[in-house]
Amino acid sequence: MYLTNEQEAILKGEEGWAKKKCLEIIVGLGEMYGADRLIPVASTQISGVSYKTLGEYGLQWVESLAPAKAVVPSTLNPAGMDLCRWLEMGVPEDFAEKQMRVIRAYERLGVITLCSCTPYLAGFAPRFGEHVAWSESSAVCFVNSFLGARTNREGGPSALASAITGLTANYGLHLDENRKPTAVVKLSAKLGGLSDYSALGYLLGKMMQQTIPYLRGLPSLSVDEAKALSAAAAASGNLALFHAEGFTPESRAYVGEVGERFHVDDRDLKRVYEELSTIRSGKIDLVAIGCPHASLVELEAAAALLKGKKISPTTKLWFFTSLPVKVLAERLGFVDVIERAGGKVFTDCCMIVAPLEQMGFTTMAVNSAKAAVYAPTASKIDVVFTTFEKCVDIALEGRLV
Ligand code: F3S
Repeated sequence: MYLTNEQEAILKGEEGWAKKKCLEIIVGLGEMYGADRLIPVASTQISGVSYKTLGEYGLQWVESLAPAKAVVPSTLNPAGMDLCRWLEMGVPEDFAEKQMRVIRAYERLGVITLCSCTPYLAGFAPRFGEHVAWSESSAVCFVNSFLGARTNREGGPSALASAITGLTANYGLHLDENRKPTAVVKLSAKLGGLSDYSALGYLLGKMMQQTIPYLRGLPSLSVDEAKALSAAAAASGNLALFHAEGFTPESRAYVGEVGERFHVDDRDLKRVYEELSTIRSGKIDLVAIGCPHASLVELEAAAALLKGKKISPTTKLWFFTSLPVKVLAERLGFVDVIERAGGKVFTDCCMIVAPLEQMGFTTMAVNSAKAAVYAPTASKIDVVFTTFEKCVDIALEGRLV
């Protein structure tokens, strides 16, 4: 791989130990994947923030990199708790202490401590064609597909290495030839709310191993629909890019028939709801919405459904969003309506990376296929995957309705 004199000097340690180690990670990945050179990135988004997933060794690695500094705008994935309201969530104190150590370690590296999987809803949206190094899988799929930015599915350490060096290796989805669709998916399924887009994403992720789908027949693709679809597609498989005819920017370049053909109908979608629900009746401890982090539109819809109502005292209704979106939702009165009804709007964290298993929850309702895929293993929790409206009904009743 071609390296500039400046990059060679970094590898010799002339700009310090941390930068050398970070560049070694990027060069190592580049060599493994046959990159010809390194390219600059405009931003990074770093996973491995919740202490639950990072662990002690991961935390020590992040701490060891100071006093190096991020050289491009860099944000974080959700942490394991709301950084201000963790006591209200019931997060154990020893976990909270470790979590705050993680946040302080990233702060020392000059990383912006916006802890969200949807930084593109909070002022950090890459441009079309821009090279970035992002690691949250749902955001990777969203920015590649919906915005036409270019990123591989980075790991936490490689995204952090890109933050410190401003570089990534030129391979994979940074290259034109690897962004072409290789299968056509024809949709005849009727898509209703966001959970249908999530179910569709789940199906795509499962069907498309090492394949880039070109979707035909999507009725619409709003920002929220694209984020729901992207999250589930990246969770059930390893999908990092899709094209949707008439909606995604690069789809215009690929109007012809390509590769294999698949078909998704109403029965396929319905099966996803059944397949991902591990419970069919009974009490629900937690109704969790905001995977990926809820948008202002979703919080507005929740406030409209909850206005003047009270959720069951035997359950909890938690929304997860980013701090900037919550601030706006507060100003617009949505948070007040939700919290008067007994719900909570938390920031910085989510239902998967919070230590739910230590907080006494055993059953959860979600409208996200990604959350339904991960919760049984990540938190040893039983789930029901259903629509947004049904989730709110479950919270009002305290049980499956
Ligand atoms: Fe985001 Fe957590 Fe879901 S990181 S995509 S809310 S699992």
